[in-house]
Amino acid sequence: MVDLSLEPLADELRSTRSVKPCVLVIFGATGDLTRRKLVPSLMGLSKDGLLPSAFAVVGFARRPWTDESFREVLADGVETFGRPDTPAHFAEQREAFIYHQSDFGDAYGYLKLKQRLEEIDRTRGTAGNRIFYLATPPSAYSLILKNLAAAGLSSEQGDRFSRVIVEKPFGRDLDTATALNSQVSAAFRERQVFRIDHYLGKETVQNILALRFANGIFEPLWNEKFVDSVQITVAESIGVGSRGSYFEESGVIRDMIQNHLMQVLTLVAMEPPAAMTADAVRDEKVKVLKAIRSFDPSKVDRNTVRAQYTSGSFGGEDVKGYLEEDGVAPNSTTETYAAVRLKIDNWRWARTPFYLRSAKRMPRRATEVAIQFKQPPHALFEARKAPTPNMLLLRIQPDEGVAMRFGAKVPGPDVRIRDVRMDFRYGTAFGSETADAYERLLLDSILGDGTLFARDDEVAEAWRIVDSIVAGWAESDRPPATYTAGTWGPPDADALLRRGRTWRRP
Ligand code: BG6
Repeated sequence: MVDLSLEPLADELRSTRSVKPCVLVIFGATGDLTRRKLVPSLMGLSKDGLLPSAFAVVGFARRPWTDESFREVLADGVETFGRPDTPAHFAEQREAFIYHQSDFGDAYGYLKLKQRLEEIDRTRGTAGNRIFYLATPPSAYSLILKNLAAAGLSSEQGDRFSRVIVEKPFGRDLDTATALNSQVSAAFRERQVFRIDHYLGKETVQNILALRFANGIFEPLWNEKFVDSVQITVAESIGVGSRGSYFEESGVIRDMIQNHLMQVLTLVAMEPPAAMTADAVRDEKVKVLKAIRSFDPSKVDRNTVRAQYTSGSFGGEDVKGYLEEDGVAPNSTTETYAAVRLKIDNWRWARTPFYLRSAKRMPRRATEVAIQFKQPPHALFEARKAPTPNMLLLRIQPDEGVAMRFGAKVPGPDVRIRDVRMDFRYGTAFGSETADAYERLLLDSILGDGTLFARDDEVAEAWRIVDSIVAGWAESDRPPATYTAGTWGPPDADALLRRGRTWRRP
């Protein structure tokens, strides 16, 4: 009997790549990211045997904490946010977590850090390899980068590596991103730099490339001859919560579209790379962005929709409108919903529009890519209404999987066609939970593999496009539309699609 079970073999789950000993230094280690994401993810990796045998974490921050108080906070973070099998594992590894108190601008603090790292190399065998993680507010990046370079911590000697991981936001427009890129490149070479976009760490985002390039059946259809349009949606049910003042400065366009949606777009639209190497993949991704023209400000209103949520009821509870959220100006025009129609001016996509949409306070959390195919050239079957077009749906989260919608004959004496769905679900097929995005990205940074990180030119191109949208909105006399919290956005958004297309309801 042929065994068609898709249970992954133990070997398939294990990484074949080898990791070198190293120390991870987290700047801003007293912040939320460290206890919620970074350390729980590191513990997941460690439990799975994926971290190097010699490994340590140094938390660098201003607060007067000690090694012990740092470890207490981390233990609580692993307990609350980590996998159930990791708290006991953390207890065994506590000694590997060390706290270093210093101001980000204090040169002496970096010299002391250097001494401490050398001591850790001697006691824990970390071999002089370092990764610096910038998890501070972006205003501190410049000071940290300068001081790392001045202390000689950014240069690589012999086969020792020194890398820097930069958290988002990477600038707030093209100018600030360019300035930040030059500060980064004054201290590190591009191959030492890892700009995090956590969407690239999601298994299902990586599966876009596997689906396209590990199969023969999709790629021949993957172009403007067969694809009518593409919708990329990142819908969130949460509101801005306690992040009102941050959100005021960014809006959905900077917070989500410039990075996460643009990254997904490039993976959907790119040409096959010559090899699966970091630069070959990123070269192709950046070409997609280069093929998207900046908007003429006067055309932005025609190609975008922006809106704010108003109060509503959500899961049986009343929720505030955006303008009533803490930290939000009562007359704010910041968008919590944005939809954009983009054209990719290249051979493959010349006539296929790409629609990007992201918002807070939607009815449900759902990230997906919907590839809508053209209708067959000739209608053979009588139908009361036009048949629904075929669609390939890539469900990024939750309920990760891939579905195909097509028409089938309804059983019976008449010829009636109805939509049916073929569905692949990750959970059912592989029977294992997908790892947190940070696990994959932290592991890749330790391995020195930059494929799933944004390169400087990708970030710059994405800002160029987003800046032109922001400029159009600033000039526009049309204020943001509104939508009631818990609905799928303003009615205007349908008009953006044209030609009878409609937004998918995830
Ligand atoms: C972050 C944004 O980058 O991504 C948040 O700053 C957003 O506003 C989050 O909520 C969404 O990430 P995920 O993984 O929950 O889809």
